[in-house]
Amino acid sequence: MHTALFEKIEKIGLVPVVKIDDASKAEGLAKALIDGGLPCAEVTFRTDAAAEAIGRITKAYPEMLVGAGTVINVEFAKQAVAAGATFIVSPGFNPEVVDWCIANNVPIVPGVCTPSDIEAGLARGLTTLKFFPAEASGGVNMLRNFAGPFPNVTFMPTGGINVKNATEYAAQRNVLAVGGSWMVNAALIEAEDWAAISALCRDAVATLQGLKLARIGIGTATEEEAKRVATLLAAVGIANLVDEQVEVYASDENTKGYLGFSCINAERSAAYLVDRGFTIEESSVQRNAAGKLLSCSFAEDLGGFALRLFTE
Ligand code: 3PG
Repeated sequence: MHTALFEKIEKIGLVPVVKIDDASKAEGLAKALIDGGLPCAEVTFRTDAAAEAIGRITKAYPEMLVGAGTVINVEFAKQAVAAGATFIVSPGFNPEVVDWCIANNVPIVPGVCTPSDIEAGLARGLTTLKFFPAEASGGVNMLRNFAGPFPNVTFMPTGGINVKNATEYAAQRNVLAVGGSWMVNAALIEAEDWAAISALCRDAVATLQGLKLARIGIGTATEEEAKRVATLLAAVGIANLVDEQVEVYASDENTKGYLGFSCINAERSAAYLVDRGFTIEESSVQRNAAGKLLSCSFAEDLGGFALRLFTE
């Protein structure tokens, strides 16, 4: 259900949870999020300004993915949809809200924190659920335990997530994207400090990729020469790579080798790198049976080295 929407959310990887008191600040905030690499938001119905803020953002930035959060009754759901929200999020599993959304073909991501909640979602055909409040309900450990009985459910954990623990959440196989409010805190919105919000977003997006130099390829004219280079690199403890992570080979290609980066979600990180000026080498693309990107190389030359991306 609503596959395209959830694919978009997965690619972004992080949904800012916004509480806005003054709707006139909505466009400025939206621009700050877009500039920071997060073209999406869950605008919560915790203030009277929510519906107007959603309306203003969707009008000014139609390319932005705007959902409504804290939708705890059907009235809020109606207001959110009328204002232009693309999806609805709720802190708990309210059958009335969920059933109204399903009946009106509105994507709904209800909050769950127990197996019973998850089963209520599954009974209605929902397989993407918000895990809330994530940290207080058992955090990453709880998500790992959900994966056993519910292998086909993906979660959007929110509540207590910050730049320090976001990567661990994102790395769980059953996490579609994480959510949080740390990059859109009330004081920064109040002060209209858009530069600070963009900087926090950029930092969050970069952290979320989990990019790590995990493999180096050294391709020189002869394998002996490649081994010599590898020995010299080992002497300086380059990136603490162990032997198996260094590949040596004879090469008549233009490159001297490659730098291989592992990441949490190759689809997401490839898009992240493309946004930053890299070009995917189509012939290098490898996908799994479900069509998900596993690895790829990029066309740009980094001082003689190619860039490779892969999921571990
Ligand atoms: C939510 O509604 O998802 C949470 O309030 C966001 O949680 P956080 O403020 O702890 O990030």
